[in-house]
Amino acid sequence: MFPTSLRNSTVIVIATIWLASSALADTTPSIDWKSLPVEEITLFYPGQSSFQWLHSPEHPGARKVGRGTGCTRCHNGDEQSMGKDIVSGGQLEPNPIEGKKGSLRLAIQAAHDEENLYLRFNWRTQADRPGIMHNYMRYDGQAWAFYGGPRSAKRVRQGQEPPLYEDRLAVMIDDGDVQRFAEQGCWLSCHNGMRDMPGEPTTETVRSHPYLGDGGLGRKDVRKYIPVSRTDASASWDKVKPAEVLAQIKERGMFLELMQWRAARSNPVDMADDGYVLGYRLFDEGQNPFSWNVDRDSMIPKYMFDPEKVGRKSLTIADIESVPKPAALIREENATLYDPDADWREGDVLPGRLLSRVDARGSAADNTRIRGKWEDGNWVVTWIRPLDTGNSDDIALERGNTYTFGFAIHDDNVTTRFHFVSFPVSVGIGRGGDITAVSLE
Ligand code: HEC
Repeated sequence: MFPTSLRNSTVIVIATIWLASSALADTTPSIDWKSLPVEEITLFYPGQSSFQWLHSPEHPGARKVGRGTGCTRCHNGDEQSMGKDIVSGGQLEPNPIEGKKGSLRLAIQAAHDEENLYLRFNWRTQADRPGIMHNYMRYDGQAWAFYGGPRSAKRVRQGQEPPLYEDRLAVMIDDGDVQRFAEQGCWLSCHNGMRDMPGEPTTETVRSHPYLGDGGLGRKDVRKYIPVSRTDASASWDKVKPAEVLAQIKERGMFLELMQWRAARSNPVDMADDGYVLGYRLFDEGQNPFSWNVDRDSMIPKYMFDPEKVGRKSLTIADIESVPKPAALIREENATLYDPDADWREGDVLPGRLLSRVDARGSAADNTRIRGKWEDGNWVVTWIRPLDTGNSDDIALERGNTYTFGFAIHDDNVTTRFHFVSFPVSVGIGRGGDITAVSLE
Protein backbone atom coordinates (compact mmCIF):
# COMPACT_ATOMS: atom_id res chain seq x y z
CA MET A 1 0.00 0.00 0.00
CA PHE A 2 1.39 3.44 -0.96
CA PRO A 3 1.14 6.29 1.52
CA THR A 4 -1.90 8.36 0.48
CA SER A 5 0.12 11.39 -0.63
CA LEU A 6 2.27 9.29 -2.94
CA ARG A 7 -0.75 7.55 -4.40
CA ASN A 8 -2.41 10.85 -5.07
CA SER A 9 0.61 12.29 -6.78
CA THR A 10 0.93 9.18 -8.91
CA VAL A 11 -2.65 9.60 -10.02
CA ILE A 12 -2.05 13.24 -10.83
CA VAL A 13 1.04 12.44 -12.89
CA ILE A 14 -0.80 9.78 -14.85
CA ALA A 15 -3.76 12.10 -15.40
CA THR A 16 -1.49 14.87 -16.63
CA ILE A 17 0.30 12.61 -19.05
CA TRP A 18 -3.01 11.32 -20.36
CA LEU A 19 -4.39 14.83 -20.81
CA ALA A 20 -1.27 16.17 -22.46
CA SER A 21 -0.85 13.30 -24.83
CA SER A 22 -4.41 12.31 -25.51
CA ALA A 23 -4.54 12.55 -29.23
CA LEU A 24 -8.17 11.88 -30.03
CA ALA A 25 -7.32 8.84 -32.09
CA ASP A 26 -5.91 7.00 -29.08
CA THR A 27 -9.08 7.17 -27.05
CA THR A 28 -11.79 6.95 -29.70
CA PRO A 29 -13.18 3.55 -30.53
CA SER A 30 -13.33 3.45 -34.29
CA ILE A 31 -16.93 3.91 -35.24
CA ASP A 32 -18.07 3.08 -38.72
CA TRP A 33 -20.33 6.09 -39.09
CA LYS A 34 -21.25 5.10 -42.63
CA SER A 35 -23.06 2.07 -41.26
CA LEU A 36 -25.19 4.08 -38.80
CA PRO A 37 -28.54 5.67 -39.61
CA VAL A 38 -28.67 9.43 -40.29
CA GLU A 39 -31.56 11.47 -38.89
CA GLU A 40 -32.20 14.93 -40.25
CA ILE A 41 -33.89 17.64 -38.27
CA THR A 42 -34.67 21.22 -39.23
CA LEU A 43 -33.56 24.02 -36.93
CA PHE A 44 -35.23 27.37 -37.47
CA TYR A 45 -34.77 31.02 -36.64
CA PRO A 46 -36.88 31.88 -33.57
CA GLY A 47 -36.40 35.65 -33.40
CA GLN A 48 -37.91 36.96 -30.18
CA SER A 49 -40.42 34.14 -29.63
CA SER A 50 -39.77 34.04 -25.89
CA PHE A 51 -41.57 32.01 -23.23
CA GLN A 52 -43.55 35.17 -22.44
CA TRP A 53 -44.49 35.76 -26.10
CA LEU A 54 -45.66 32.16 -26.47
CA HIS A 55 -48.05 32.67 -23.56
CA SER A 56 -49.26 36.06 -24.80
CA PRO A 57 -52.37 36.83 -26.88
CA GLU A 58 -50.04 37.46 -29.84
CA HIS A 59 -49.42 33.73 -30.13
CA PRO A 60 -52.55 31.89 -31.35
CA GLY A 61 -51.38 28.74 -29.55
CA ALA A 62 -51.00 30.50 -26.18
CA ARG A 63 -53.87 28.84 -24.33
CA LYS A 64 -52.72 25.35 -25.18
CA VAL A 65 -49.08 26.19 -24.57
CA GLY A 66 -50.17 27.27 -21.08
CA ARG A 67 -51.72 23.85 -20.55
CA GLY A 68 -48.55 22.09 -21.65
CA THR A 69 -49.37 21.11 -25.25
CA GLY A 70 -46.23 20.39 -27.29
CA CYS A 71 -45.09 22.80 -30.01
CA THR A 72 -45.03 20.11 -32.68
CA ARG A 73 -48.70 19.24 -32.04
CA CYS A 74 -49.48 22.37 -34.06
CA HIS A 75 -46.20 23.14 -35.81
CA ASN A 76 -44.95 19.75 -37.03
CA GLY A 77 -43.10 20.24 -40.31
CA ASP A 78 -43.49 24.03 -40.21
CA GLU A 79 -39.90 24.77 -39.24
CA GLN A 80 -38.72 25.92 -42.63
CA SER A 81 -41.65 28.23 -43.32
CA MET A 82 -41.70 29.63 -39.79
CA GLY A 83 -37.97 30.40 -39.95
CA LYS A 84 -38.30 32.04 -43.34
CA ASP A 85 -41.16 34.15 -42.12
CA ILE A 86 -39.53 35.27 -38.87
CA VAL A 87 -36.01 35.95 -40.19
CA SER A 88 -37.29 38.40 -42.79
CA GLY A 89 -38.53 40.78 -40.10
CA GLY A 90 -41.79 41.74 -38.49
CA GLN A 91 -43.21 41.30 -35.04
CA LEU A 92 -40.73 38.67 -33.88
CA GLU A 93 -37.62 40.15 -35.50
CA PRO A 94 -37.39 43.94 -35.25
CA ASN A 95 -33.79 44.01 -36.47
CA PRO A 96 -33.36 41.47 -39.30
CA ILE A 97 -29.94 40.58 -40.69
CA GLU A 98 -29.92 41.01 -44.44
CA GLY A 99 -29.65 37.80 -46.42
CA LYS A 100 -29.77 35.54 -43.39
CA LYS A 101 -31.28 32.11 -43.96
CA GLY A 102 -34.34 31.09 -41.96
CA SER A 103 -33.54 27.47 -41.23
CA LEU A 104 -30.80 24.88 -41.23
CA ARG A 105 -30.78 21.12 -41.81
CA LEU A 106 -28.83 19.26 -39.16
CA ALA A 107 -27.86 15.64 -39.78
CA ILE A 108 -27.40 13.62 -36.60
CA GLN A 109 -26.02 10.16 -35.98
CA ALA A 110 -25.95 8.57 -32.55
CA ALA A 111 -24.51 5.47 -30.93
CA HIS A 112 -23.55 4.31 -27.47
CA ASP A 113 -21.67 1.61 -25.62
CA GLU A 114 -21.54 0.99 -21.88
CA GLU A 115 -19.46 4.08 -21.25
CA ASN A 116 -20.20 6.74 -23.80
CA LEU A 117 -22.71 8.43 -26.04
CA TYR A 118 -21.30 9.04 -29.53
CA LEU A 119 -22.79 11.79 -31.63
CA ARG A 120 -21.93 12.96 -35.10
CA PHE A 121 -23.33 16.17 -36.56
CA ASN A 122 -23.15 17.57 -40.04
CA TRP A 123 -24.44 20.91 -41.32
CA ARG A 124 -23.80 23.35 -44.11
CA THR A 125 -22.63 26.82 -43.15
CA GLN A 126 -24.02 29.92 -44.80
CA ALA A 127 -20.59 31.54 -45.03
CA ASP A 128 -17.91 30.12 -47.31
CA ARG A 129 -15.49 29.96 -44.40
CA PRO A 130 -15.70 28.48 -40.90
CA GLY A 131 -16.49 30.85 -38.03
CA ILE A 132 -13.26 30.36 -36.10
CA MET A 133 -12.33 33.99 -35.39
CA HIS A 134 -13.67 35.38 -32.14
CA ASN A 135 -12.98 38.29 -29.76
CA TYR A 136 -10.01 39.44 -31.79
CA MET A 137 -8.05 42.54 -30.78
CA ARG A 138 -6.40 45.03 -33.09
CA TYR A 139 -3.48 47.30 -32.28
CA ASP A 140 -4.09 50.85 -33.49
CA GLY A 141 -0.52 52.10 -33.05
CA GLN A 142 -1.06 52.95 -29.40
CA ALA A 143 -3.43 50.53 -27.74
CA TRP A 144 -5.33 47.30 -28.23
CA ALA A 145 -9.08 47.29 -28.80
CA PHE A 146 -11.58 44.57 -29.64
CA TYR A 147 -12.17 44.32 -33.35
CA GLY A 148 -14.98 42.79 -35.38
CA GLY A 149 -18.08 41.26 -33.88
CA PRO A 150 -21.42 39.57 -34.50
CA ARG A 151 -23.51 40.60 -37.51
CA SER A 152 -26.11 42.07 -35.16
CA ALA A 153 -23.63 44.67 -33.85
CA LYS A 154 -24.13 48.20 -35.15
CA ARG A 155 -20.50 48.72 -36.18
CA VAL A 156 -20.63 45.49 -38.19
CA ARG A 157 -24.01 46.29 -39.77
CA GLN A 158 -22.60 49.65 -40.81
CA GLY A 159 -19.54 48.04 -42.36
CA GLN A 160 -16.99 49.69 -40.05
CA GLU A 161 -15.71 46.37 -38.76
CA PRO A 162 -15.80 42.83 -40.19
CA PRO A 163 -18.24 40.14 -39.03
CA LEU A 164 -16.17 37.92 -36.70
CA TYR A 165 -17.89 35.52 -34.36
CA GLU A 166 -17.53 31.82 -33.69
CA ASP A 167 -19.82 29.08 -35.02
CA ARG A 168 -21.41 27.09 -32.21
CA LEU A 169 -23.43 23.93 -31.67
CA ALA A 170 -25.38 23.77 -28.41
CA VAL A 171 -26.92 20.62 -26.97
CA MET A 172 -29.49 20.88 -24.18
CA ILE A 173 -30.67 17.78 -22.32
CA ASP A 174 -33.49 17.06 -19.90
CA ASP A 175 -33.98 13.74 -18.14
CA GLY A 176 -37.65 14.38 -17.42
CA ASP A 177 -37.15 16.52 -14.32
CA VAL A 178 -37.80 19.88 -16.00
CA GLN A 179 -41.53 20.23 -16.35
CA ARG A 180 -42.72 20.69 -19.97
CA PHE A 181 -39.27 20.47 -21.52
CA ALA A 182 -40.34 17.31 -23.36
CA GLU A 183 -43.18 19.27 -24.98
CA GLN A 184 -41.76 22.78 -25.34
CA GLY A 185 -37.99 22.34 -25.27
CA CYS A 186 -35.59 25.27 -25.51
CA TRP A 187 -38.38 27.84 -25.29
CA LEU A 188 -38.63 27.17 -21.56
CA SER A 189 -35.19 28.73 -21.23
CA CYS A 190 -35.74 31.77 -23.44
CA HIS A 191 -37.20 34.87 -21.80
CA ASN A 192 -37.91 38.54 -22.14
CA GLY A 193 -35.18 40.48 -20.36
CA MET A 194 -32.35 38.33 -21.73
CA ARG A 195 -29.69 39.85 -23.98
CA ASP A 196 -31.18 41.00 -27.29
CA MET A 197 -34.71 40.18 -26.12
CA PRO A 198 -37.59 42.59 -25.41
CA GLY A 199 -37.50 44.31 -22.03
CA GLU A 200 -33.73 43.99 -21.61
CA PRO A 201 -32.85 45.68 -18.29
CA THR A 202 -29.93 48.09 -17.98
CA THR A 203 -26.57 46.91 -16.68
CA GLU A 204 -27.16 48.88 -13.47
CA THR A 205 -30.51 47.18 -12.89
CA VAL A 206 -28.98 43.72 -13.24
CA ARG A 207 -26.00 44.64 -11.06
CA SER A 208 -28.30 45.71 -8.25
CA HIS A 209 -30.33 42.48 -8.44
CA PRO A 210 -29.71 40.38 -5.30
CA TYR A 211 -29.25 37.05 -7.13
CA LEU A 212 -27.90 38.07 -10.53
CA GLY A 213 -25.93 41.16 -9.58
CA ASP A 214 -22.94 42.28 -7.53
CA GLY A 215 -24.12 40.63 -4.32
CA GLY A 216 -24.85 37.32 -6.08
CA LEU A 217 -23.58 35.87 -9.36
CA GLY A 218 -21.85 39.15 -10.27
CA ARG A 219 -23.49 39.39 -13.71
CA LYS A 220 -24.40 42.38 -15.83
CA ASP A 221 -26.96 40.75 -18.08
CA VAL A 222 -29.74 38.16 -18.00
CA ARG A 223 -29.14 34.76 -19.63
CA LYS A 224 -31.07 31.54 -19.90
CA TYR A 225 -33.09 30.26 -16.95
CA ILE A 226 -36.01 27.89 -16.46
CA PRO A 227 -39.45 28.84 -15.07
CA VAL A 228 -39.08 26.74 -11.89
CA SER A 229 -36.37 29.19 -10.77
CA ARG A 230 -38.85 32.08 -10.68
CA THR A 231 -41.66 32.89 -8.25
CA ASP A 232 -44.33 34.15 -10.69
CA ALA A 233 -46.40 32.38 -13.35
CA SER A 234 -44.91 34.45 -16.18
CA ALA A 235 -41.39 33.52 -15.03
CA SER A 236 -40.13 37.12 -15.02
CA TRP A 237 -36.36 37.52 -15.18
CA ASP A 238 -36.18 39.44 -11.89
CA LYS A 239 -38.51 37.26 -9.79
CA VAL A 240 -35.83 34.79 -8.73
CA LYS A 241 -36.40 32.33 -5.89
CA PRO A 242 -33.97 32.62 -2.97
CA ALA A 243 -30.53 31.12 -3.62
CA GLU A 244 -31.04 28.38 -1.02
CA VAL A 245 -34.27 27.31 -2.72
CA LEU A 246 -32.47 27.18 -6.09
CA ALA A 247 -29.80 25.00 -4.46
CA GLN A 248 -32.51 22.59 -3.28
CA ILE A 249 -34.06 22.50 -6.76
CA LYS A 250 -30.67 21.70 -8.25
CA GLU A 251 -30.12 19.01 -5.65
CA ARG A 252 -33.34 17.40 -6.89
CA GLY A 253 -31.92 17.34 -10.40
CA MET A 254 -34.30 19.94 -11.84
CA PHE A 255 -31.96 21.66 -14.29
CA LEU A 256 -31.03 21.41 -17.96
CA GLU A 257 -27.69 20.19 -19.17
CA LEU A 258 -26.24 22.66 -21.69
CA MET A 259 -23.05 21.88 -23.59
CA GLN A 260 -21.64 24.06 -26.32
CA TRP A 261 -19.14 23.16 -28.99
CA ARG A 262 -17.42 26.38 -29.98
CA ALA A 263 -15.50 26.63 -33.24
CA ALA A 264 -13.10 29.23 -31.81
CA ARG A 265 -13.10 28.75 -28.05
CA SER A 266 -13.16 24.95 -27.68
CA ASN A 267 -12.68 23.13 -30.99
CA PRO A 268 -8.97 23.98 -31.42
CA VAL A 269 -8.30 21.95 -28.23
CA ASP A 270 -10.76 19.16 -29.18
CA MET A 271 -13.26 20.14 -26.50
CA ALA A 272 -16.74 21.52 -25.86
CA ASP A 273 -17.76 23.44 -22.77
CA ASP A 274 -20.08 22.02 -20.12
CA GLY A 275 -22.76 23.94 -18.26
CA TYR A 276 -26.29 23.87 -16.94
CA VAL A 277 -29.38 26.06 -16.82
CA LEU A 278 -31.44 26.74 -13.71
CA GLY A 279 -31.55 30.30 -12.31
CA TYR A 280 -29.04 31.40 -14.98
CA ARG A 281 -26.85 29.80 -17.63
CA LEU A 282 -23.79 28.71 -15.69
CA PHE A 283 -20.69 26.67 -16.37
CA ASP A 284 -20.10 23.54 -14.34
CA GLU A 285 -17.58 23.58 -11.47
CA GLY A 286 -13.97 23.81 -12.53
CA GLN A 287 -12.09 25.50 -15.35
CA ASN A 288 -13.28 26.00 -18.93
CA PRO A 289 -11.00 25.35 -21.88
CA PHE A 290 -11.04 29.11 -22.62
CA SER A 291 -10.30 32.29 -20.71
CA TRP A 292 -9.60 35.94 -21.53
CA ASN A 293 -6.25 36.74 -23.11
CA VAL A 294 -6.45 40.35 -22.05
CA ASP A 295 -6.83 42.40 -18.91
CA ARG A 296 -10.11 44.01 -19.81
CA ASP A 297 -9.47 47.17 -17.76
CA SER A 298 -6.02 47.98 -19.14
CA MET A 299 -6.59 46.16 -22.47
CA ILE A 300 -3.08 44.74 -22.25
CA PRO A 301 -2.84 41.23 -23.75
CA LYS A 302 -1.52 38.35 -21.64
CA TYR A 303 -0.11 36.07 -24.33
CA MET A 304 1.00 36.35 -27.95
CA PHE A 305 1.90 33.73 -30.53
CA ASP A 306 5.31 32.18 -29.94
CA PRO A 307 7.45 33.21 -32.95
CA GLU A 308 9.60 30.13 -32.47
CA LYS A 309 6.61 27.89 -32.97
CA VAL A 310 4.40 29.89 -35.30
CA GLY A 311 6.95 32.01 -37.15
CA ARG A 312 5.41 35.28 -36.00
CA LYS A 313 4.03 36.92 -32.88
CA SER A 314 0.65 38.00 -34.20
CA LEU A 315 -1.82 38.01 -37.06
CA THR A 316 -2.67 41.01 -39.19
CA ILE A 317 -5.85 42.54 -40.54
CA ALA A 318 -5.03 41.00 -43.91
CA ASP A 319 -5.16 37.51 -42.34
CA ILE A 320 -8.80 38.05 -41.44
CA GLU A 321 -9.72 38.19 -45.11
CA SER A 322 -8.62 34.60 -45.44
CA VAL A 323 -8.72 32.18 -42.53
CA PRO A 324 -5.57 32.53 -40.45
CA LYS A 325 -3.58 29.49 -39.39
CA PRO A 326 -3.49 29.25 -36.48
CA ALA A 327 -6.53 31.32 -35.59
CA ALA A 328 -6.47 30.41 -31.92
CA LEU A 329 -3.91 31.00 -29.20
CA ILE A 330 -3.31 27.77 -27.25
CA ARG A 331 -1.24 28.17 -24.11
CA GLU A 332 0.55 24.82 -24.26
CA GLU A 333 0.95 24.77 -28.03
CA ASN A 334 1.73 28.07 -29.68
CA ALA A 335 1.73 30.86 -27.07
CA THR A 336 4.31 32.81 -25.14
CA LEU A 337 3.94 35.68 -22.65
CA TYR A 338 3.00 39.00 -24.23
CA ASP A 339 5.98 41.25 -24.78
CA PRO A 340 4.89 44.90 -24.59
CA ASP A 341 8.21 46.01 -26.07
CA ALA A 342 8.00 43.86 -29.18
CA ASP A 343 7.72 45.86 -32.38
CA TRP A 344 3.92 46.24 -32.47
CA ARG A 345 2.51 47.84 -35.61
CA GLU A 346 -0.86 49.31 -36.40
CA GLY A 347 -3.09 46.53 -37.74
CA ASP A 348 -1.52 43.73 -35.72
CA VAL A 349 -4.15 41.32 -34.44
CA LEU A 350 -4.18 38.98 -31.43
CA PRO A 351 -6.91 36.63 -30.21
CA GLY A 352 -8.62 38.04 -27.12
CA ARG A 353 -9.12 34.50 -25.84
CA LEU A 354 -6.61 32.00 -24.56
CA LEU A 355 -7.31 28.29 -24.91
CA SER A 356 -5.90 25.46 -22.88
CA ARG A 357 -6.78 21.82 -22.75
CA VAL A 358 -4.18 21.23 -20.04
CA ASP A 359 -5.60 23.91 -17.73
CA ALA A 360 -9.23 22.81 -18.17
CA ARG A 361 -10.36 21.09 -14.99
CA GLY A 362 -13.24 19.49 -13.16
CA SER A 363 -16.81 19.16 -14.32
CA ALA A 364 -16.42 22.10 -16.71
CA ALA A 365 -13.95 19.95 -18.63
CA ASP A 366 -16.05 16.82 -19.14
CA ASN A 367 -16.19 17.15 -22.92
CA THR A 368 -12.64 16.32 -23.96
CA ARG A 369 -13.22 14.18 -27.01
CA ILE A 370 -14.84 16.39 -29.57
CA ARG A 371 -13.61 17.02 -33.04
CA GLY A 372 -15.02 19.48 -35.55
CA LYS A 373 -13.77 19.70 -39.09
CA TRP A 374 -14.94 22.21 -41.67
CA GLU A 375 -14.69 21.06 -45.26
CA ASP A 376 -16.42 22.07 -48.49
CA GLY A 377 -18.86 24.31 -46.66
CA ASN A 378 -19.82 21.76 -44.00
CA TRP A 379 -19.00 21.27 -40.36
CA VAL A 380 -18.70 17.66 -39.27
CA VAL A 381 -18.52 17.40 -35.49
CA THR A 382 -18.01 14.12 -33.66
CA TRP A 383 -18.74 14.23 -29.97
CA ILE A 384 -18.03 11.64 -27.28
CA ARG A 385 -19.83 12.14 -23.98
CA PRO A 386 -19.47 9.83 -20.99
CA LEU A 387 -22.95 8.49 -20.19
CA ASP A 388 -22.27 9.26 -16.54
CA THR A 389 -19.63 11.89 -15.82
CA GLY A 390 -19.94 11.23 -12.09
CA ASN A 391 -20.54 14.95 -11.50
CA SER A 392 -23.66 16.27 -9.80
CA ASP A 393 -24.02 19.23 -12.19
CA ASP A 394 -24.44 16.84 -15.14
CA ILE A 395 -27.28 14.60 -16.24
CA ALA A 396 -26.35 10.93 -16.16
CA LEU A 397 -27.64 9.04 -19.21
CA GLU A 398 -28.80 5.47 -18.70
CA ARG A 399 -29.04 2.75 -21.28
CA GLY A 400 -32.63 1.95 -22.17
CA ASN A 401 -33.95 5.41 -21.22
CA THR A 402 -35.02 8.30 -23.43
CA TYR A 403 -34.11 11.94 -22.92
CA THR A 404 -35.29 15.17 -24.47
CA PHE A 405 -32.66 17.05 -26.41
CA GLY A 406 -32.75 20.56 -27.83
CA PHE A 407 -30.21 21.55 -30.48
CA ALA A 408 -29.11 25.04 -31.48
CA ILE A 409 -26.60 26.31 -34.00
CA HIS A 410 -25.09 29.76 -34.21
CA ASP A 411 -24.11 30.10 -37.85
CA ASP A 412 -22.44 32.86 -39.84
CA ASN A 413 -21.07 35.24 -37.23
CA VAL A 414 -24.00 35.65 -34.87
CA THR A 415 -24.73 35.36 -31.17
CA THR A 416 -27.76 35.48 -28.81
CA ARG A 417 -31.20 35.13 -30.47
CA PHE A 418 -29.78 35.16 -34.02
CA HIS A 419 -29.35 31.36 -33.98
CA PHE A 420 -31.30 28.34 -35.26
CA VAL A 421 -33.11 26.12 -32.76
CA SER A 422 -34.89 22.78 -32.84
CA PHE A 423 -38.20 21.76 -31.42
CA PRO A 424 -37.65 19.14 -28.68
CA VAL A 425 -36.23 15.84 -29.94
CA SER A 426 -36.38 12.63 -27.91
CA VAL A 427 -33.20 10.56 -27.95
CA GLY A 428 -33.23 6.94 -26.81
CA ILE A 429 -30.06 5.37 -25.46
CA GLY A 430 -30.25 1.99 -27.16
CA ARG A 431 -33.98 2.03 -27.81
CA GLY A 432 -36.89 4.38 -28.34
CA GLY A 433 -36.90 8.07 -29.19
CA ASP A 434 -37.18 10.15 -32.38
CA ILE A 435 -33.48 9.37 -32.63
CA THR A 436 -32.15 6.10 -31.25
CA ALA A 437 -28.51 5.90 -30.26
CA VAL A 438 -27.51 2.55 -31.72
CA SER A 439 -26.00 0.11 -29.26
CA LEU A 440 -22.41 -0.85 -30.11
CA GLU A 441 -22.22 -3.42 -27.34
C1 HEC B 1 -52.48 24.86 -30.17
C2 HEC B 1 -51.61 25.04 -31.29
C3 HEC B 1 -50.25 25.66 -31.04
C4 HEC B 1 -49.30 25.25 -30.15
C5 HEC B 1 -49.35 24.13 -29.13
C6 HEC B 1 -48.17 26.09 -30.38
N1 HEC B 1 -48.43 27.00 -31.36
FE1 HEC B 1 -47.18 28.38 -32.11
N2 HEC B 1 -48.63 29.10 -33.33
C7 HEC B 1 -49.87 28.54 -33.48
C8 HEC B 1 -50.59 29.23 -34.52
C9 HEC B 1 -51.98 28.91 -34.99
C10 HEC B 1 -49.73 30.25 -34.98
C11 HEC B 1 -50.00 31.26 -36.07
C12 HEC B 1 -49.88 30.63 -37.40
C13 HEC B 1 -48.49 30.60 -37.83
O1 HEC B 1 -47.87 31.65 -37.89
O2 HEC B 1 -47.99 29.48 -38.13
C14 HEC B 1 -48.51 30.12 -34.22
C15 HEC B 1 -47.41 30.91 -34.41
C16 HEC B 1 -46.17 30.67 -33.84
C17 HEC B 1 -44.96 31.39 -34.16
C18 HEC B 1 -44.86 32.51 -35.17
C19 HEC B 1 -44.62 31.92 -36.50
C20 HEC B 1 -44.42 32.93 -37.59
O3 HEC B 1 -44.36 32.49 -38.74
O4 HEC B 1 -44.31 34.13 -37.31
C21 HEC B 1 -43.97 30.85 -33.42
C22 HEC B 1 -42.52 31.24 -33.41
C23 HEC B 1 -44.55 29.79 -32.64
N3 HEC B 1 -45.89 29.71 -32.92
C24 HEC B 1 -43.84 29.00 -31.79
C25 HEC B 1 -44.38 28.00 -31.00
C26 HEC B 1 -43.66 27.23 -30.04
C27 HEC B 1 -42.17 27.38 -29.79
C28 HEC B 1 -44.52 26.40 -29.44
C29 HEC B 1 -44.26 25.45 -28.31
C30 HEC B 1 -43.77 26.03 -27.07
C31 HEC B 1 -45.83 26.65 -30.04
N4 HEC B 1 -45.70 27.62 -30.97
C32 HEC B 1 -46.94 25.95 -29.70
C33 HEC B 1 -50.36 27.46 -32.78
C34 HEC B 1 -49.69 26.76 -31.80
